[in-house]
Amino acid sequence: MTNTAVGISGFGGYVPERVMTNEEWTQYVDTSDEWIVERTGIHRRRVAADDESTADMATAAARSALESRGIGPEEIDEIIVATDTPEVYTPDTASFVQRKLGAREVPSYDLGGSGCAGFVQAMDVARSRVLTGTRRVLVIGVELITRLVSWKIRETCVLFGDAAAGVIVERGPQMAEILGARTGTDGSQWSILTLEIGGTRKPFSLEYAQKEEHLKLIMEGRAVFRHAVHRMSEVGLDVLEAVGAKLEDVAMIVPHQANLRIVQAVAKNLSVPMEKVYTNLQEYGNTGSASVPLALWEAHSKGRISPGDLVLLTSFGAGFHWGAALLRFTG
Ligand code: ACO
Repeated sequence: MTNTAVGISGFGGYVPERVMTNEEWTQYVDTSDEWIVERTGIHRRRVAADDESTADMATAAARSALESRGIGPEEIDEIIVATDTPEVYTPDTASFVQRKLGAREVPSYDLGGSGCAGFVQAMDVARSRVLTGTRRVLVIGVELITRLVSWKIRETCVLFGDAAAGVIVERGPQMAEILGARTGTDGSQWSILTLEIGGTRKPFSLEYAQKEEHLKLIMEGRAVFRHAVHRMSEVGLDVLEAVGAKLEDVAMIVPHQANLRIVQAVAKNLSVPMEKVYTNLQEYGNTGSASVPLALWEAHSKGRISPGDLVLLTSFGAGFHWGAALLRFTG
């Protein structure tokens, strides 16, 4: 163990109980199971219960990560929550998680609005916090997106699902050493993927509410698709180069679970067979900031990752933001 090693010491996740199939969407919009499966690979997703909130889900995932580490909430020294679907507007979701979890009065903050890249960004921040002296950081990615996106717009509603997942980051190689991370942003592309109403630019109004504009996710699907493939491939290669690792040495890629076609295109770009790429979007849809940690948690829980394996995380989201990290599992 080098004195600069930082690793993941616990994995956790939570998905709501309610399963919503593609068929169920036909009650709300003009769509079909065939269209959704063919264009996205998604078969079903989870939808939060009416009495469930973002912080409830994040706290459940946090408890699961603490249990995997074998510690209580009092052992956490900092909390970062990545989300685009917060508990309330102000304060941030991390404040709610700190209280619900029963953590000490530790620094807690959100990394909000980074779309699906939020978790990798947050884990990279956690890593730097540990390197500068914080003992143990809880990082959660959570999204309750089915409540904030219109159920009347077929182009977007069928894509998403609700979930929370996260990790604990601390010094040492732990269960999976974070060998390196790279993140980036291109703000010039914000307008092709945005939930625009409600901020200072376009404050919430009765007129918007009557037209349900506040639930309208603006998304240029094909452009987002192209950017996602390009950025997830590129940033994945960047992090490998930064740590001096080779793509052939990577045992598994855990990409953002947006769409099976995006994931397949990334694999093709990188010349990596799909057997090496972990997907669970078929079951959960696109869960935004929760997508990468949920897939990682599931792959780890199912014993799909062996000691010594190099695992590449790569993600992309609104902003545009992107991020990748390379992990080496230790056992
Ligand atoms: N059911 C049935 N038909 C639909 C649906 C639906 N749910 N949604 C759109 N269509 C129709 C369109 O209206 C269009 O009809 P038309 O030909 O009569 O005009 C037709 O299907 C084809 O639409 P396209 O948008 O061209 O379909 P495409 O093959 O590009 O697939 C999709 C659309 C799945 C959104 C794809 O572009 C995509 O995945 N883009 C990436 C978007 C994404 O992942 N967003 C999530 C957030 S960002 C992220 O996580 C990276």
